[in-house]
Amino acid sequence: MDLLNTLTYDETYRPQFHYSPPAQWMNDPNGMVYYEGEYHLFYQHHPGSTVWGPMHWGHAVSKDLVRWEQHPIALRPDRNGTVFSGSAVVDWKDSSGFFGGGTGLVAIFTQDDSDPETGESRQRQSLAYSKDKGRTWAMFAGNPVLTDARFTDFRDPKVFWDERRGRWAMAIAAGDRIAFYTSPDLKEWTFRSEFGQTEGSHDGVWECPDLFELPVDGDERRRKWVLIVSIGDNPDEPAGSRTQYFVGSFDGDKFVNENDGDSVLWLDHGRDNYAAVTWSDVPGDDGRRLLIGWMSNWKYANQTPTDAWRGALTLPRVLELRSGAAGTRLVQKPVDDIVTLRESVRELRDVTVKEGENPLAGLEAECLEITAELELRGAEELGFRVRKSGAEETVVGYDASTGRVFVDRSRSGQSDFHEGFACRHEADITVRDGRLRLQLFVDRSSVEVFAGEGELAMTDLIFPSAGSMGLEFYAKGGEIGIVSMSVSVIKSIWQEAR
Ligand code: FRU
Repeated sequence: MDLLNTLTYDETYRPQFHYSPPAQWMNDPNGMVYYEGEYHLFYQHHPGSTVWGPMHWGHAVSKDLVRWEQHPIALRPDRNGTVFSGSAVVDWKDSSGFFGGGTGLVAIFTQDDSDPETGESRQRQSLAYSKDKGRTWAMFAGNPVLTDARFTDFRDPKVFWDERRGRWAMAIAAGDRIAFYTSPDLKEWTFRSEFGQTEGSHDGVWECPDLFELPVDGDERRRKWVLIVSIGDNPDEPAGSRTQYFVGSFDGDKFVNENDGDSVLWLDHGRDNYAAVTWSDVPGDDGRRLLIGWMSNWKYANQTPTDAWRGALTLPRVLELRSGAAGTRLVQKPVDDIVTLRESVRELRDVTVKEGENPLAGLEAECLEITAELELRGAEELGFRVRKSGAEETVVGYDASTGRVFVDRSRSGQSDFHEGFACRHEADITVRDGRLRLQLFVDRSSVEVFAGEGELAMTDLIFPSAGSMGLEFYAKGGEIGIVSMSVSVIKSIWQEAR
């Protein structure tokens, strides 16, 4: 443990305010649960290598979702196989009987192995429990608790307490659909229904579901359910692995999509937000639905150019549902506590920017946040160039002719590890009253963009040289008004350990 917490986290590309494992490989966030003042984060981890391999659950704990304390490995492969993705819950009523009438944490996850008779790969669901606030875990002797031999891909159970029905509910990926189960005790599971074979995107295998209810526009009397589904990589799809969501209703047994089956809602329009799921048991008086995703893409996840570790997570985000002309949609914004890392370096108000001007000239920063409210005054394009030097830049901008926000990482730095990495992508945003809000977080190897009220998020890895620290705001083909803009350096969450 001491070793874990005395690492310097100062390597090339090492994220300074995003979570990354101390060493070796990480993919999906797992088992996120809040319990007795702590946010737990487990994650898919291969402790023997910086490429994917036999999966364990790594572990970290935070009190504010910003600063993380590294903990030893929580779950290791056993006779039932390696430990794939899953969730964790607080068993408040000791429904499992693991806690002698008290409370504790139960993890529900997939174990991956092969059938000793047929040699075929199989995925079955198991439990582990912790009586000491997640520090040590015991595998349940009755594992596995849920199997379905019809599916080779049967994984990533997300479990929550269904208050109205007084029982546990599970959403689990089963090949090309999501299956729903219920249980009184987390051990015995009853199949209820399945969803999605003909709905949404099927560009890849379905993985890592999450299912939760949110008020619409903050109105507790109007609530809808959100079903998040990640879809795996497909060699024919340049965007690689991505995360979609559905909005609808759930009656304890069945999820019904309120949109057309062929409409697809993306959680994030960047390339690097996968397997995103939410925390369970966030107290009711807090009420936030908190999401975190893996900041990578199966297309090149095993090749990204880091040495000591590989993999990082997005900033934790608060999810809300908003109604609009197109329907009810998720909006997301980073957790507020990030402000505790801010050191403001420039504030602008009521400034007009003409083509060729750079109001951020002279500023240099590696890790930063920019928040801006901009007035579109006829310019064709506006944007920020971050992590800039003569040869490198990452551009985050808005193209007024198409009404789209874009991230262009085609000259962002190292990209030769995969032919598809150097790219530009974009997504629609509705601009109201000629004003556009943008918020950017730039770390040593990522850029996260939130546009409008958070209705558009774009998350992308970048691998710039350490010396590429220039900053620019530009207007093209006309003027832009800066109503307000604030540029802050973001301090390292690891610097206290250095
Ligand atoms: C998603 C995923 C999950 C699986 C895990 C294995 O990225 O493929 O479906 O449980 O990773 O590491």
